[in-house]
Amino acid sequence: MAKKVIVLGGDGFCGWPTALHLSRHGYEIVIVDNLSRRKIDVDLGTNSLTPIASIETRIARWKKETGKEITFYNFDIAEEYHQLYSLISSFQPDSIIHFAEQRAAPYSMRDAKCKRYTVNNNLRATHNVLCAIAESQLDVHLVHLGTMGVYGYETTGITIPEGYLPVKVAKDDGTFVDFDILYPPGPGSVYHMTKTQDALFFYFYNKNNGIRITDLHQGNVWGTTTEETRLHEELINRFDYDGDYGTVLNRFLMQSAVGHPLTVYGTGGQTRPFIHIQDTVKCLRIAIENPPEHGERVKIFNQTTETYNVRNLAKKVSELTNAKIMYFRNPRVEAADNDFVVTREQFRALGLEPTTLSDGLLVEIAETAEKYKERCIMDKIICTSLWSQDQEVDAVGSELPVSA
Ligand SMILES: NC(=O)c1ccc[n+]([C@@H]2O[C@H](COP(=O)([O-])OP(=O)(O)OC[C@H]3O[C@@H](n4cnc5c(N)ncnc54)[C@H](O)[C@@H]3O)[C@@H](O)[C@H]2O)c1
Repeated sequence: MAKKVIVLGGDGFCGWPTALHLSRHGYEIVIVDNLSRRKIDVDLGTNSLTPIASIETRIARWKKETGKEITFYNFDIAEEYHQLYSLISSFQPDSIIHFAEQRAAPYSMRDAKCKRYTVNNNLRATHNVLCAIAESQLDVHLVHLGTMGVYGYETTGITIPEGYLPVKVAKDDGTFVDFDILYPPGPGSVYHMTKTQDALFFYFYNKNNGIRITDLHQGNVWGTTTEETRLHEELINRFDYDGDYGTVLNRFLMQSAVGHPLTVYGTGGQTRPFIHIQDTVKCLRIAIENPPEHGERVKIFNQTTETYNVRNLAKKVSELTNAKIMYFRNPRVEAADNDFVVTREQFRALGLEPTTLSDGLLVEIAETAEKYKERCIMDKIICTSLWSQDQEVDAVGSELPVSA
């Protein structure tokens, strides 16, 4: 019998291609999504660079292309606990994948309304999922999409472990005791703060209720298409390029296609982890196929394949496309430069073969950024969220030499 998976947030950028990938690999998929991400586009007056079809059209197209059924429910998992609980109790999934959170750091810092929405939505969503699994008394494996940002982007001289830090602490009697503690949280935005709080919910429900949980600390996702979304234009994935939701590399690819200078904030010395969307969906399948044992603590994977600093990333895109690079005042409160060295052995050991920037950049530019560039709303490119009210964004930017 097919294994059953509920994909919470399955209409989103990571959730939709994951649902297709798992469906193609024989899983029975139910998507839950309240379509809040599409509504935020409307509120912000922006759009996906790619023309995404409605969720109903997407699912009907998938059935036509592959013969496989995906079921969809439209409800809010942060608000509608009883629908969530009833679904889990009746469908009896083997795994639940939880993507259903507000995921943009700049959006979470826009104003008090967005900060409060992000906290209310994300924390209540995560707690409702855990509470409903516990109440159902079913043996469900929960896989959550967390972020590398929980570690903080500070230079520490430490290779960041996969979630747990071994420490030696002096006891009162002068001898030493060894612990594995959750890596100290270092959130850089309200969004990241919700992810560090999620980790405590997981710790509690794992210890108290024995729920098997995998938390994936994912890097910045780039790219758009996967083997499954390429099957038909109505299956196309979303591509965010605006100042709130666009992730840095996809923004650079779009900017080079529309002839906008690449927008580097600050010195561009910020080092960030990256992963291609094709690898995201593979990691999700690996994670649900390798659940923790019963009684095992929360399993944490670092889900990233490469790290780059933003300046070098811009240079790489500029070398391929001849785009200019423009430096803007950084709207974030963060270190101007940082090192970020991270362990990522578990996915490799389980067989992940990464798509590197060198393999995938040109394909992305041709398949997506160039193809849909006419849809870009140019005045949505610059980030207008500020991390602190003392800051003022330099909306025009100042062109400096690449080596600045
Ligand atoms: N995109 C990235 O680069 C990236 C990087 C690291 C981690 N992540 C994590 O992966 C997850 C998915 O990210 P994404 O890029 O696919 O985001 P997304 O916004 O495209 O998708 C999230 C989906 O969840 C839905 N949703 C949100 N709140 C909901 C609620 N209360 N009830 C029902 N549905 C709800 C939205 O409508 C949306 O379709 C997020 O938790 C994010 O933190 C993403």
